[in-house]
Amino acid sequence: MPAIFNPDSPADDPLALFHGWLAEAEEKEINDPTGMALATADAQGRPSLRMVLLKGADDGGFTFYTNVESRKGEQLTANPNAALLFHWKSLRRQVRVEGPVSVVTPEQADTYFESRPRQSRIGAWASQQSRPLESRFALEKRVARYAAKYATGTVPRPAYWTGFRVAPLRIEFWQDGAFRLHDRALYSRDAEDQPWQKQRLYP
Ligand SMILES: Cc1cc2nc3c(=O)[nH]c(=O)nc-3n(C[C@H](O)[C@H](O)[C@H](O)COP(=O)(O)O)c2cc1C
Repeated sequence: MPAIFNPDSPADDPLALFHGWLAEAEEKEINDPTGMALATADAQGRPSLRMVLLKGADDGGFTFYTNVESRKGEQLTANPNAALLFHWKSLRRQVRVEGPVSVVTPEQADTYFESRPRQSRIGAWASQQSRPLESRFALEKRVARYAAKYATGTVPRPAYWTGFRVAPLRIEFWQDGAFRLHDRALYSRDAEDQPWQKQRLYP
């Protein structure tokens, strides 16, 4: 097991530990090491789950970008709490993150949007994410329409396209162990301004 994870004496800062694991995943995983499952729930508490890409993890939280009018966007608006799960198969590790969700600032969303390839920015205009689509051709027509509309100059960020940040109140690190005797280290805190509590958990 890499020295970075000693569950009997875990690092004080779970974010530093997370970044260490992510760096290893970026070397080992073939595709999308920043891919994470995002769980949301509707106003009645019914859960749903899908993958998104992590675009930043710092003291402010774990950030991803999406369409606020999508199913996940509507659920996060009705119930601003989420859970994230990273599973790095080649490392036999998982990380679980849970906490309240907020929307990033317009400036942050603009900065990230501007960093995306032009075609992806056009795609953000063309896609009415999670709503019914009559045919692939209908989508391609919308892509062509927005490509023509924004043929020159910058492609502005659609107001419905932004980032969400999950402020972690629980972060759990899980490392596969022989005969299912895995190592689990849980960091938890009651609020973002509180210190982290560390615990080992039974596998
Ligand atoms: C590896 C992977 C990464 C993805 N990353 C994103 C992402 O960052 N943002 C996003 O909106 N959708 C992303 N998707 C698509 C979502 O999983 C999902 O299909 C889409 O966001 C609609 O979800 P919803 O209907 O629950 O809102 C990704 C899918 C995969 C498989």
